[in-house]
Amino acid sequence: MGKLKGKIAFITGGAAGNGRGIAESFLRQGAEVILADISDTVFTTADELGENVFAYQLDITKPHDVNNCVADAAAKLGRIDILVNNAGIARFSKFIDIEDKLRDLQFDVNIKGTWNCTKAILPHMINNKYGRIINMSSVTGPYAADPGEVAYATTKAAIIGFTKALAIETAQHNITVNAICPGYILTSMVRHSAGESNPVNPQAVIDAIAAGIPMKRLGTPGNIGDLAAFLASGEADYITGTDIIIDGGNGIPETNSMGLR
Ligand SMILES: NC(=O)c1ccc[n+]([C@@H]2O[C@H](COP(=O)([O-])OP(=O)(O)OC[C@H]3O[C@@H](n4cnc5c(N)ncnc54)[C@H](O)[C@@H]3O)[C@@H](O)[C@H]2O)c1
Repeated sequence: MGKLKGKIAFITGGAAGNGRGIAESFLRQGAEVILADISDTVFTTADELGENVFAYQLDITKPHDVNNCVADAAAKLGRIDILVNNAGIARFSKFIDIEDKLRDLQFDVNIKGTWNCTKAILPHMINNKYGRIINMSSVTGPYAADPGEVAYATTKAAIIGFTKALAIETAQHNITVNAICPGYILTSMVRHSAGESNPVNPQAVIDAIAAGIPMKRLGTPGNIGDLAAFLASGEADYITGTDIIIDGGNGIPETNSMGLR
């Protein structure tokens, strides 16, 4: 235990879901955490998580606000060692139907939000000759896709390119940059999609997803948190520019689910 002792982590989208799971794992490992989220529930989450947690209500699509928030957090805590670009949104619609506005919303949060936070925090890491950057991608985009996911998949594939290209520029400064590619993780994002597919019985959708996963369950935010804690720790200090799938084996089957296995 304590593999992040003394480290200071900035986690976007930290109010709920995977971001909260990451915060909980980091706290267990001894880090201090800064939660930044567009939702004012970030303050309740911070209260619930207890000591060593600092909260900011922040829209990561606004570079000016991101810069102010990072400057304030770095001044208060002295430095930022770890950045987890976790905040993201998914809005599904077939390519033929999707409006530019819905595309831009996802590009703005998932790609530009990650860009803005990294741009603001990287100079601090370079100054300190230390940094761990963890970007939340997905299996959707780099590895798989279902109908309706073109815009979301595009953003998550972009995160892989961002991760590799940034890793090569920052390795000389003792900074690692890696991405996490989750499959189905039980958060409000998945619950919301399940509700759209079956408004009467969203749980039936979740149960059907679980039945198709080799490990027979969706992942938890805690699973994502533990992987992020590993990537942020000294145990991973020679890992950079890569991405790790965490999906309970969902991407493995060679055959489809039409009775062939
Ligand atoms: N849940 C899954 O199955 C799954 C799978 C693959 C990838 N992911 C990725 O994990 C990340 C977290 O997703 P989640 O499932 O926890 O979703 P979630 O909706 O539960 O949490 C996302 C958080 O991001 C915040 N957020 C949204 N827009 C923001 C903005 N502009 N500025 C700051 N904060 C903002 C939300 O308020 C929320 O607290 C996302 O990047 C998502 O794409 C999730």
